[in-house]
Amino acid sequence: MQEEYSVQADGVDEWTYTMFLYTSALKKMNMKMEILKEEFKQIHKYNPIEHVSSRIKTPESIVKKLHRHGKEASIHEMVNYLNDIAGIRIICSFTPDIYQIAKMLSNQDDITVLSVKDYIAHPKENGYRSYHMIVTIPIYVATGTVQTKVEIQIRTIAMDFWASLEHKIHYKFEGNAPEYMYSELKNCAEIAAKLDEKMLALNNTILEESAKIPSPSIPEKLEQEIGQLAN
Ligand code: GTP
Ligand code: MG
Repeated sequence: MQEEYSVQADGVDEWTYTMFLYTSALKKMNMKMEILKEEFKQIHKYNPIEHVSSRIKTPESIVKKLHRHGKEASIHEMVNYLNDIAGIRIICSFTPDIYQIAKMLSNQDDITVLSVKDYIAHPKENGYRSYHMIVTIPIYVATGTVQTKVEIQIRTIAMDFWASLEHKIHYKFEGNAPEYMYSELKNCAEIAAKLDEKMLALNNTILEESAKIPSPSIPEKLEQEIGQLAN
């Protein structure tokens, strides 16, 4: 986010104003995803987006994270150092869908990509796989434009399933889970990756096979639909 906002926020509650910007940024991102989803459904008859969720980081997590990074708990530090106050998670069907969605979002004129972490091409040591982008989107407020940061995580259902369990274990054991759990998790990450691969291959075969079945021409389709209406 730009520094100018602190000047513009003079006279208003800075915390409320800052959180309002992040909430607005998430609204815009969610709307973008809705439009993409609708386009895929109506026009391309294929939906690469399984579901989308978003969240604003809680004040407790914000303070904890700032302290963990040796920063003081202030709005200025938060805006400058934390990239995940506003976060959106996009769950896709197949791995290529992830890159397709990432590209579509990056190509939108009002989205500026600040950084990318591809934990699919380069999984983390523990097995974590996901595609991360930090972007900014403009929020048009009464006093001007504020480029606001959003963290975007894009992953498959299998990657998400794994990450939820890993998160649960990490949280439950406060990072000190028994060693066998970490190796089991790593093993599960490999199985999940294999599953993604196999499901993609199967889906491609389905698409190839169904392409061989001739689809009706538009007049034929109309006739079918009229026939259905008449029945
Ligand atoms: P954080 O300080 O944790 O936000 O990480 P970072 O600033 O180094 O960025 P990174 O892109 O690595 O991670 C951002 C977010 O991705 C995290 O806040 C988590 O939501 C998610 N994430 C990253 N690594 C893992 C992981 O090993 N397991 C799980 N479950 N989630 C992860
Ligand atoms: Mg985070």
